[in-house]
Amino acid sequence: MALQPIRGTRDILPDESRRHRLVTETARNISARYGYAEMSTPIMEVTEVFKRTLGDTTDVVTKEMYTFEDRSGGSVTLRPEGTAGVARALISGGLSQHLPLRYYYDGPMFRRERPQKGRYRQFHQIGIELLGEPGPAADVEVIAVGARILEMLGLKDKIKLEINSLGDTESRSSYRQVLVDYFGDHKGDLSEDSQTRLRKNPLRILDSKDEGDRKIVANAPVFSDSFTAEAKDFFAAVCEGLDDIDVAYTLNPRLVRGFDYYCLTAFEFVTDQLGAQGAVIAGGRYDGLVEVMGGPATPGVGFAGGIERMALLLDEDPVSSRPIAVVPVSAAQMREAIKLAESLRRAGLNIKLDLRGNLKKRLIRASRDNASVAVLIGEDELARGEATVRDLDSGDQQTVALDKLAADLLRFS
Ligand code: HAM
Repeated sequence: MALQPIRGTRDILPDESRRHRLVTETARNISARYGYAEMSTPIMEVTEVFKRTLGDTTDVVTKEMYTFEDRSGGSVTLRPEGTAGVARALISGGLSQHLPLRYYYDGPMFRRERPQKGRYRQFHQIGIELLGEPGPAADVEVIAVGARILEMLGLKDKIKLEINSLGDTESRSSYRQVLVDYFGDHKGDLSEDSQTRLRKNPLRILDSKDEGDRKIVANAPVFSDSFTAEAKDFFAAVCEGLDDIDVAYTLNPRLVRGFDYYCLTAFEFVTDQLGAQGAVIAGGRYDGLVEVMGGPATPGVGFAGGIERMALLLDEDPVSSRPIAVVPVSAAQMREAIKLAESLRRAGLNIKLDLRGNLKKRLIRASRDNASVAVLIGEDELARGEATVRDLDSGDQQTVALDKLAADLLRFS
């Protein structure tokens, strides 16, 4: 049997890589305008980093993590997301004394989900985390970064922002009780998973993908009715801040997130163009996370966006720069061609030099590679210290002295 990539993992070939790069470069540049500096955490962490922080009963922790025993016996997990690793880095790197901190990251994440369009087992995220800022202005800033990234990618019309508040600890415990009462009344109709959630974490039922559960969830009491005054004020300030800077949003009281570390603000930039995979960028506030990991109490807010999902939504393929083909007329000029190609590359030009083939084949390949120009070097031209520069779009050609070649070719780049 021919070897295949592992289910849910994919090779990202050059056309798609270009789209991914456009997404990461846009995200990195926009984030930098807001002061977010790039960092990266390891792809593997000790399992504890994710287990407690994401939540023992979440789908990711119970079913989707790639966890294995290291040869030394410790339990290791391929990161399913980036926030827990950043929080771990804050603690292990002693970075808390430099707060507030703004970080940007991108890279692969791993979740053993059922693969489908826009959902993979190895996928890639861009993300930002703002640590050490307790006020609503931080949430507004983080959401604005997400909105501007999508705007810059030309996705504004395909995506809308939904926000919600998950309340503070106090609001949560009273809501929890309200939910326990409500779902308790429907216990017999809930899925087996949700019956377990009812005991361990009833909030998770709201997130259930089970058809039967969803019907019961549709009539569940809404969170905001259980909010404390502080939680209400915080959310109002976030909404007001977004209004001030013209970031459009809709309130979605049913919006919940898949991890336990969230509190107060939760948001998702969603699309209806990727089938079931609606969330493109998602995040929120996680004030308790660093403390749960054993660090000092540190407020945090951030988001992550699926690179594949953004790449799928792009209207146009990013253009790749057109190469210049250096073409020896016969094998006798190959050594000179290699020397010339090398010096043109050092002058900053994008040069394509086939290592084999006759003149005809080289010219066919040059047009297949979308080269803008062919630099032809034959015996006579070389003897005169010249090359023929042929514009492959118009067919026009002229001879140019070799020492003027790099400067002349700049008109094509
Ligand atoms: P998340 O909602 O789990 O949040 O993931 C964020 C985004 O990653 C999703 O909206 C989606 O675009 C993409 N994504 C997730 N799973 C997959 C998958 N299996 N295949 C393709 N794309 C996927 C987090 O990861 C949080 N760490 C976000 C955050 C940062 N919150 C605060 N700071």
